[in-house]
Amino acid sequence: MESRLFEPTRLGALRLPNRLVMAPMTRNRATADGVPQPIMATYYAQRASAGLIIAEASTPNAVGQTYPNITAIYNQAHVLGWRRVTDAVRASGGRMFLQLQHGGRVGHPDNSGHTPIAPSSIPLPETIHTPAGPRDAVAPREMTTDDIRSTTADFAAAARNAIDAGFAGVEVHSANGYLLHQFLARGTNRRTDAYGGSVAGRIRFTVEVVQAVAEAIGPERVGLRISPAVGANGIDEGDTDSIYPELTKTLADVGLAYLHVVFADPDKPLFQTIRKNWPGTLIANPMLPWPGPLPADGGKHQGEQLLDAGADLISLGRSFLANPDLVERLRLGAPLNEVRAEGLMYTGGENGYTDYPTLTSAASNEVLEPASPIAN
Ligand SMILES: Cc1cc2nc3c(=O)[nH]c(=O)nc-3n(C[C@H](O)[C@H](O)[C@H](O)COP(=O)(O)O)c2cc1C
Repeated sequence: MESRLFEPTRLGALRLPNRLVMAPMTRNRATADGVPQPIMATYYAQRASAGLIIAEASTPNAVGQTYPNITAIYNQAHVLGWRRVTDAVRASGGRMFLQLQHGGRVGHPDNSGHTPIAPSSIPLPETIHTPAGPRDAVAPREMTTDDIRSTTADFAAAARNAIDAGFAGVEVHSANGYLLHQFLARGTNRRTDAYGGSVAGRIRFTVEVVQAVAEAIGPERVGLRISPAVGANGIDEGDTDSIYPELTKTLADVGLAYLHVVFADPDKPLFQTIRKNWPGTLIANPMLPWPGPLPADGGKHQGEQLLDAGADLISLGRSFLANPDLVERLRLGAPLNEVRAEGLMYTGGENGYTDYPTLTSAASNEVLEPASPIAN
């Protein structure tokens, strides 16, 4: 029997040809001011056979910029740049959401031109990559309620821009230690106002952003990404087992397109609680070795286990990065390209980006090779 990964399914108004989702991956191929470049259209169109592509973290305003050359979605140049990408993906038969990410304290004045803002003035305990190399993080400015209000409005405006740019929807990034996750976690949120303190206080900003974005473009076009217990970017949640049951219960009735769980472990009670609380589509990103190496099947087996445990769609990151035709390779049980070291580096150019072979291009190279000595 064919794996359920290859079953067609639905996501809101979209028909997906399979249950495999390309996870959002920052690749730093935009201009310094966040405009997507033509090479990005090639990269994403190469991967259009994914059931759904979630395009990389894009900032909804200038202060939210994390690293150099990340994508943005707050002005017309960004919209036009992204439209080239969505047009190319649609022409290749694909479907795309865009991830909206504000970095919060994961940012640097040398990257964004602004002092980062965050729930509390607690610096990232790590260096940050800048055009001049790694720099010590600076202390972020604690957000006022006006900052919270205007940032929420910027997320909503960014979502409208994403729809203008041809995306089918957006994913709100409340994972991996960026701004919304900083609000969720006790270690980074020491606020004493309505946006801090109790779990109800700490989830409030994520809830309000999701509601504002859902109001702007319709809940069926909005996903939410969370990473329970993932300590990325110096995050210390404190009470993981209270935060996520409450967050998922609070948002259960909004009618979102999906909830996307990073490093999902089907054996963890928290995963089962989240599944129980969430009435809609659940995308699970399996827990694979990090930083690697990946299993030979790229995460297929773990994906199938998560489908059995109640997930609806499976997202894979690095396997899609290295295999433009990942769906076909997994279906055939064909060997996968390995992620090349430079493919994980957040640098410009096609090296490790658009130059990973498909099965067809690899096969035609094999056929051509014997001819080349004669040509020499
Ligand atoms: C190069 C790279 C860039 C990433 N950028 C993002 C990002 O922009 N947003 C995000 O939520 N996760 C990001 N991630 C995490 C992936 O979405 C995914 O959760 C992670 O790679 C684990 O999945 P995998 O084991 O299938 O690679 C990134 C991962 C990689 C390897």
